[in-house]
Amino acid sequence: MKICVIGTGYVGLVAGTCFAESGNDVTCVDIDAAKIGRLLAGEVPIYEPGLEELIVRNVEEGRLSFTTDVESAVKSAIVCFIAVGTPQSADGGAPDMRYVHQAARDIGSAMDGYCVVVNKSTVPVGTAAAVRKILAESTKHPFDVVSNPEFLKEGAAIDDFLKPDRVVIGVSSEKAAEIMKDLYSPFVRGGSPILVMDNASAEMTKYAANSLLAVKISFINEIANLCEKVGADIAHVRQGIGSDRRLGMHFLYPGLGYGGSCFPKDVRAIIDTAEAVGLEFSLMRAVDDVNNLQKRRLFGKVREYFDGNLAGRTFGIWGLAFKPRTDDMREAPAIGLVEDLLAAGCKVNVHDPEAMEVARGEFGDRVSYCAKNYDAIAGADALCVVTEWNEFRHPDFDRMKQLLKAPVVFDGRNLWEPRDMKSKGFTYFPIGRPSVKAA
Ligand SMILES: NC(=O)c1ccc[n+]([C@@H]2O[C@H](COP(=O)([O-])OP(=O)(O)OC[C@H]3O[C@@H](n4cnc5c(N)ncnc54)[C@H](O)[C@@H]3O)[C@@H](O)[C@H]2O)c1
Repeated sequence: MKICVIGTGYVGLVAGTCFAESGNDVTCVDIDAAKIGRLLAGEVPIYEPGLEELIVRNVEEGRLSFTTDVESAVKSAIVCFIAVGTPQSADGGAPDMRYVHQAARDIGSAMDGYCVVVNKSTVPVGTAAAVRKILAESTKHPFDVVSNPEFLKEGAAIDDFLKPDRVVIGVSSEKAAEIMKDLYSPFVRGGSPILVMDNASAEMTKYAANSLLAVKISFINEIANLCEKVGADIAHVRQGIGSDRRLGMHFLYPGLGYGGSCFPKDVRAIIDTAEAVGLEFSLMRAVDDVNNLQKRRLFGKVREYFDGNLAGRTFGIWGLAFKPRTDDMREAPAIGLVEDLLAAGCKVNVHDPEAMEVARGEFGDRVSYCAKNYDAIAGADALCVVTEWNEFRHPDFDRMKQLLKAPVVFDGRNLWEPRDMKSKGFTYFPIGRPSVKAA
């Protein structure tokens, strides 16, 4: 099948590559000429495990190509995916739909026959109808508009795409449904369902799924905060909750709140969708508030420990990406922590296994970038763990003690056991678990 993917970001690049991997002829388009230039030069502009290998193979075998020329990419494509960004708009509520609308116009003016236009971007209810209208205004050729939200997780995107839990397809045409089922059939041989529904329900499904995941995160973070105050241990409480099959263990890890390009904006978007039809989605408003506070909790602990005397101190930060196995720092909790420390007059040394280049764009020369995690804590007053990269789980604790000015660790991801940290001689502040003081 000849496929065009408009928008070559985390979603478009992964989707395009995986469709090529199943034998389709895929062209990925982006308006960002630098991004396409890097891809044409054999470079992968994002860090996503396993992606580079798949891109190289499919480019070599002639099934995957990259261009900035939308017209040539759309011509003769039977399916055109819109996978452009839908960032939060400046007013903080509804997503900015400019890029989706432009992509629809571009497809409309370039298509030269029947085309299935697929919204893969996360878009509010009503977008399929809006895209249909734009296409009707810009082409005389027949088309169908499909809503096919993406559920991949950065860091595990390839696996999620090749083996999805489900595929959601919102359609109003039998023909388009059959084309989409055919396209996805190689990925659901394990028995995952392809759920065919109307466009509006498919659009809502994506927001509802992300909202419920965000609810779980803010819930467990609030319980963790309560545990700290009443002397309970979230590690035990989590086991106690999660063993109930109605609840499950997933997404019950306390931490520094959710970040990334999806949950924060999608939560705000569903609040906006409700507001637009006269409903107050107070649950999701609370989830958003809790999350914003949680992102600042580690700084609160740091300030309390040092009695507010932070000016002139040095902090080492391990982890900048909003989660492990990605270089994505959009809405990452590390940003608020670093900004708070800088505003308090601290020197900040940062390390992340993959997000250092992205971090330079965020912090410029206001922090010190350390190639090794241990370099970040040399002479530091304390270590702050912000992202739970696997390589941080078994560090050389003796070396850490030698390097730190004092053995103090603020752990926003509960990487280590408080009891072990005490016996190793650390003062240790986890989330929702008893903190311990070095003897
Ligand atoms: N990142 C994720 O994990 C994830 C998961 C599921 C869904 N989504 C959703 O998928 C969508 C894309 O997210 P992303 O993270 O891939 O975004 P991204 O910012 O990484 O990539 C978007 C790309 O679209 C390009 N673009 C914008 N307008 C264009 C146009 N008219 N023509 C061609 N290219 C254009 C941009 O230059 C950019 O490269 C969003 O709606 C997001 O909410 C993201």
